[in-house]
This record gives sequence, structure tokens and C-alpha cells, in this order.
Amino acid sequence: MHKTWGGRFREDTDQRVEEFTESISFDQRLYAQDIAASIAHARMLAKVGLLTADEADAIVQTLEAIRAEIETGRFPFRTKLEDIHTHIEHALIERLGDVGRKLHTGRSRNDQIATDMKLWTREAIDTIGRLVRDTQRALIEAAERNADLILPGYTHLQRAQPVLAAHYFLAYVEKLERDRTRLFDCRKRLDELPLGTAALAGTSLPIDREFVRQQLGFARLAANSLDVSSDRDFLLEFVFALSMIAVHLSGWAEEWILWSTVEFGFLDLPDAFCTGSSIMPHKKNPDVLELIRGKSARVVGDLQRLLVLVKGLPLAYNRDLQEDKQAVFDAFDTVAACLQLAAPLIQAVRFRREAIAQRLDDGFLDATTLMEYLIQLGMPMRSAHEAVGKLVRRCEERRCRLADLPPEEYEAIRPGLSSGVYQIVGVQNALRAFRSLGSTGPEQVAAQLRRWRERLDQDVGI
Ligand code: ARG
Repeated sequence: MHKTWGGRFREDTDQRVEEFTESISFDQRLYAQDIAASIAHARMLAKVGLLTADEADAIVQTLEAIRAEIETGRFPFRTKLEDIHTHIEHALIERLGDVGRKLHTGRSRNDQIATDMKLWTREAIDTIGRLVRDTQRALIEAAERNADLILPGYTHLQRAQPVLAAHYFLAYVEKLERDRTRLFDCRKRLDELPLGTAALAGTSLPIDREFVRQQLGFARLAANSLDVSSDRDFLLEFVFALSMIAVHLSGWAEEWILWSTVEFGFLDLPDAFCTGSSIMPHKKNPDVLELIRGKSARVVGDLQRLLVLVKGLPLAYNRDLQEDKQAVFDAFDTVAACLQLAAPLIQAVRFRREAIAQRLDDGFLDATTLMEYLIQLGMPMRSAHEAVGKLVRRCEERRCRLADLPPEEYEAIRPGLSSGVYQIVGVQNALRAFRSLGSTGPEQVAAQLRRWRERLDQDVGI
């Protein structure tokens, strides 16, 4: 068996060590990135005269053949060959002999793995970006479908003020937009080529990093070899951005789990997205939403794992860094899977409009608007707060709504109040009164919806 570490070693590696140190079981996922980077590297070596043109051609063709074998499941992966870099180099040497032994000129597995992970993360960000967009589209369509529906809005999970369903959906569109731009910020920052920084100090060979940069489509060259060899910031940022998505989805899932209960009765989840009970014949459980909520724990755990992994590592590369991959892949796979289910679930949900409307009068959703009306009539805010608080108490005594209080109750607060107040109280009236920018007022929401619709219709990517 060919040993990449060569002459320094007299003994074969202990089999237990091979099993303990291998990463091929999970880094084989990086084969396409590893081969793309090797092809760029080989072409560069030919350009600067460290390979002949024929040697580079042979290497490139063989790398492409290896890629095809991996893709069709014909390539043997072996624990003994440790990682994806060694596997591919080993296969190259098996086929090309001395020419294959030249590929690793002027590079190290340290700059190779950093390059592979950056290439992989760039694509992963694009994938998640698209999935987030799909979810945003589903939310906007749901906002358009339910444009006139009024929902109770909550703080502390207590009824607070009325909100339009469209406003509710757009709230998540905004959260996801921050998540998307956070991902693309991370993408911009990571867009620096590591390859050519070699093990930690660079190389004395006349390599051309700028050429490789262009081949692999990186925006800039990473400037400091010592930094690059140890840098995993981009993976931490990426997994943080994924954690935010997972946490946002988890809050939304919790909301809909509650809303689908008999106690709330706000919505019907599609049968196709629920599961039954093995013993209770009547049950329809929101398992998909529960798992979206539950899987956020994995992603947050992955972030934690990475933070602890890099804490206290001296410069430059340390083998600890091999442990980054499973956390990153798991966070990506988990968030991608959650987003893939979120969009169709949002598309298929149905609100129980009647049931929501029937109970909209519970909870004094119009009280704050009434207070603001008194403020507009000249009453100091604190006095208006006090006065409406008393009116709410009167309603509780009489078991009625603010809109049902007789005129004398309002006259007692302020003479003349009863003439205009009945156009203010009542949930519909209260909702129409909102007008501040970004509020749930119908004109504001219509404008937000238009803005989002236009933005998505001419989706500019970032
Ligand atoms: N499998 C290693 C990793 O994932 C690749 C780099 C190994 N470098 C080394 N000097 N052992 O980090």
C-alpha cells in the first residue's frame, strides 16, 4: 500500500489508529470539490513550468475519470487511505505513476481541505438561499390568499392587538430575508482562495495563486498563509446563519402546533403533512411541525460543537479541525430538509376563518386603539391608559365588549366621547385605524405586500 508520508516511517500505522483518524467515511462528500481544486492546481503547475502540458493533461483526464467512477459508485473507498485527498491522489498515482506523484507539488492537505470546504460552502449557501426563497414565496402567496383575514396578535401569548394575516406572514418573510442576507454576507467574506498557502507558511516554489483563483472563481486571494491554515470562521458563520433559520422555523412551527389544537382551532393542517396515532383512532398529529421544532436542537448543537472545537487552538492547522465536517454537513442537511417541508406545508394550510372571526371579540384587541383615540382627543397618554383600563373592567363586570358599553359609560370618561367612539371600538374598526409605517394597517400591509411581490417577481438573487 502506497504511503503518502513516505520515508520517515518504519512501521505501518496501527489499524486502530487508521480507524480512529479516518475521515473518508464523511469527507467523501467533498470529492467533486477536491477534484475541481486539483484540476485547477494541475493547470497552474503546467503554466509555471512545474509540470509539462502533457503531464497536466494526463492528470486532468485521470482526475475526470476518477470523478466519473465515484459518481457511478465504482470507486473503492478504504479506511486505510484516510481522507478524500489521499484517496484521489493515491488513485492518480496508481494510474499515472511518477506523473501522478507530481500533483501534490506546492500544496498541502491543509490548504486543500480549506479550499474544498469553501467550494462546498459556496454551493451550500446557494442551495439554502434558494430554499429560503421558496419558503418566502409560499408565505407571500399565503399572505395574498388570506389578505382580508384578521388574526389576534399576541404578546406573552396573551391577546394583544388585531393583526392582518398578511402582516403575520410578512413578518416571517422579513425574518427569512435577514437569514438570506446573512448567508450571502458569509458567502462574500469566505470568497478568498486558500489554495497555494500550502501547509502553513506558503511555498518556495514559483506557483501562481492568481491563476488558480480565476480557475476556481474566487473573488480574492487569502492573504496570510498562517491564518488560512487554521481558519474555520466561515464554517462557524455559515452554521450560525443556519441556526438562525432553524430557530425561526422552530418558532413558526410551535405557533402552528398551537394554532392547530382544539383549544385554538385557528387552522387545519393538511392530512398529507400529519400522522396518525397507533392507538387513538381520532388523532391527527402535527409531527412535521414538531420535528421542524425539534431538529433546530441539532443545528444549534452543531454550532456549539464548532465553537468549542476551535476554542483554544494554536496556529496553524491542528487535526482537531477534521471534526468540523460532520457538524457542518449535519446543520446543512437538517436545515435543507426543514425548508423543503416548510414551503409545501405553508402552501397547503387552511385557516378556519369562521372560528377565528367568531372569537375575535374576546380579549379586548381594540383597547389600545381606543386609548390612542382618547390621546388624539387631547387626553394625556397615562390618563387615557387609566380610563380605558377602567372601561375594560366595566366590560368584564358586564360581560360585554367595549363596543357594547352604553354611551353613558363613555360620557363619564369625557363628555361628547360617545359620539365618535363607536367608529373606533370593535376589532374591525381598531384594525383600520393603524397607520404608522410598518404597522398592520390595511394600507401599510398592502404596500408591504406589493413591495415583496415586485421584489420576488424580479428576484435579483442577493
Ligand atoms: N482530513 C483532514 C481534515 O479534514 C485533512 C487535512 C489533513 N492535514 C493533515 N496535516 N493531517 O482536516
